[in-house]
Amino acid sequence: MRPAIGIDAVAICVPSAYVELGELATARGIPAEKYLHGLGVKRMAIAGPDEDPVSLAVGAARRLFASSGRDAGDVGYCAVGTETAVDHSKPVASYLHGLLGLPQRCRVFEAKHACYGATAALLGAVEWIAAGSARGRSALVVASDIARYELGSPGEPTQGAGAVAMLVTERPRLLEIDVGEYGSYARDVHDFWRPLHRKEALVDGHFSVSCYLDALQGAYADWKERAAGAALERSLYHVPYPRMAYKAHRRRLAVDGIGEADADARFAVEVAPSLRFASDVGNIYTGSLYLSLASLLAGGDRPADGTRVGLFSYGSGCGAEFFTGRVAAGGAAFAAALELSAPLEGRTRLTVSAYESIRRADATADRRAAAGSEASAGRVAFAGIDGRERRVYLG
Ligand code: CAA
Repeated sequence: MRPAIGIDAVAICVPSAYVELGELATARGIPAEKYLHGLGVKRMAIAGPDEDPVSLAVGAARRLFASSGRDAGDVGYCAVGTETAVDHSKPVASYLHGLLGLPQRCRVFEAKHACYGATAALLGAVEWIAAGSARGRSALVVASDIARYELGSPGEPTQGAGAVAMLVTERPRLLEIDVGEYGSYARDVHDFWRPLHRKEALVDGHFSVSCYLDALQGAYADWKERAAGAALERSLYHVPYPRMAYKAHRRRLAVDGIGEADADARFAVEVAPSLRFASDVGNIYTGSLYLSLASLLAGGDRPADGTRVGLFSYGSGCGAEFFTGRVAAGGAAFAAALELSAPLEGRTRLTVSAYESIRRADATADRRAAAGSEASAGRVAFAGIDGRERRVYLG
């Protein structure tokens, strides 16, 4: 029998600063309850001038190797899912490969399909191993993004930033993935998009919510036709904001014929523990589903070994996948040792006006001449560009 394949270890990296959503609501003249309960977000992470999808990806990957005891020299596949890439051609994965010093015998690429990109990279890694290409090596998959909408727009409270790094191996220590049992869905829609000249996304907000729910229903129905086995005990969703996961779980339960009367109690057990990180960080786009996984594994109520988990990945535009896994033997104890929530501690709280200044400077950040920036506390920092518009990183 083929050995199990899946996620061996996970680590997150978030910017060093955040904004309290209650304070943002006050500044925008909106009742705080709308953000805190209507959307379910408490804080959103704000990337500073020296933080970008590359520095966040490196931060998550370095933490992954340090905490898991795995060797970066064993990596043969390095893929980054992002929808906020730093270059139209050179992939974030190449910067990551260089800054980590990964082997040259390595498949390196960036995957884009809105928030689904990291799932394409992850399932590609699983199939790379299943096909026999890995020859004992591991795959590094990192999701890294900075979510930006116009200041003052309805999307503003659903911003965030961060990266999630995952190591994919045979005999994984955290989550065994049910290889090949995927349900897919796609439809050409304009629910959320970001033209090449823009840093901030454009979105048809309420339409995007209905596209997400339709995609969930379609991908889940496809998955149900091909998958077998025990019922799902935990469900992880793409989380643009935590309340979206609540809507998603109700829709999925409805497909199973489970009525509204049982939905809240099931949500509290099956989904809520996976939303703690998202309510502290905001939407991190490609990494948001995997931030839910990290949140689930980090909590005091982490699932027992063997627990069956459903994962729903949604990418606007749109494409979606529903797939499943099982917590590996010893997975709960190993997850505790990874100290997954440590990066959320010790962050700096920004005033709303400080956040707005960062955003104004953001417009020209990619054209800043490299000088004067320093890496701190072992972090990689984006320093600016050199005379030939090449990005420079320190640390
Ligand atoms: N107290 C408590 N709750 C309140 C409230 C108050 N005073 N005022 C409003 N609310 C509730 C509303 O009832 C609503 O809850 P329900 O959805 O359960 O009915 C919730 O707060 C939001 O209120 P609105 O719908 O009126 O908010 P809005 O019009 O400002 O827009 C949004 C909400 C569409 C999500 C907007 O934030 C947005 O456009 N976000 C970006 C797009 C997005 O996140 N889409 C999600 C699906 S697409 C995707 O997943 C890809 C991705 O990552 C972007």
